Amino acid sequence: MPQLYTLYTPEEIKGAVERLAREISRDYQDKNPLLLGVLKGSFMFMADLIRNLDMQVEIEFVALSSYGQCTESSGRVCLVQGLNTSIKGRDILIIEDIVDTGITLNFLLEYLQSKKPASIKICTLLDKAACRRVCVPIDYFGLSVPDVFIVGYGLDLDQKFRHLPGIYSVGEEI
Ligand code: IMP
Ligand code: MG
Repeated sequence: MPQLYTLYTPEEIKGAVERLAREISRDYQDKNPLLLGVLKGSFMFMADLIRNLDMQVEIEFVALSSYGQCTESSGRVCLVQGLNTSIKGRDILIIEDIVDTGITLNFLLEYLQSKKPASIKICTLLDKAACRRVCVPIDYFGLSVPDVFIVGYGLDLDQKFRHLPGIYSVGEEI
């Protein structure tokens, strides 16, 4: 059982989620956006985010995988579950848990662009900017994360620790 160290408390996460919801509600007020959650990691963030929105939204999910059982990106992204509705002409807001290398989002952007939406923006709760290998345009981001592996609030290590209410670094105190 690895040692976990608190990086963000549930209260800090709540503050960031509420701020993001205000920004998104303001920017999409007169639109009918489709919020596209990236499974599995974003499920908890997505659920809390939409409860704080002050507007109508529709939601969809895609499932992508790149990490397997490791703490480093394999660099190969696999589309586990794609879209089963048309997004042609829609305003898409991607909801991610964390942007690390950027490889996953870069892959997703190419996949979505081929389906001709009106716009695509990215909202991520966490940004691990020091690890970026592919540049991706982030429109909304909540909290910064240093170059450590983190778990909790939907994020896992080999499918464990997703249920934890805060965000924790694994094995390294910050
Ligand atoms: P990227 O392709 O390297 O940007 O990684 C994207 C995905 O890997 C994220 O959506 C997460 O699901 C997962 N991921 C990246 N860093 C971490 C981490 O520190 N803990 C848990 N999952 C992570
Ligand atoms: Mg993710």
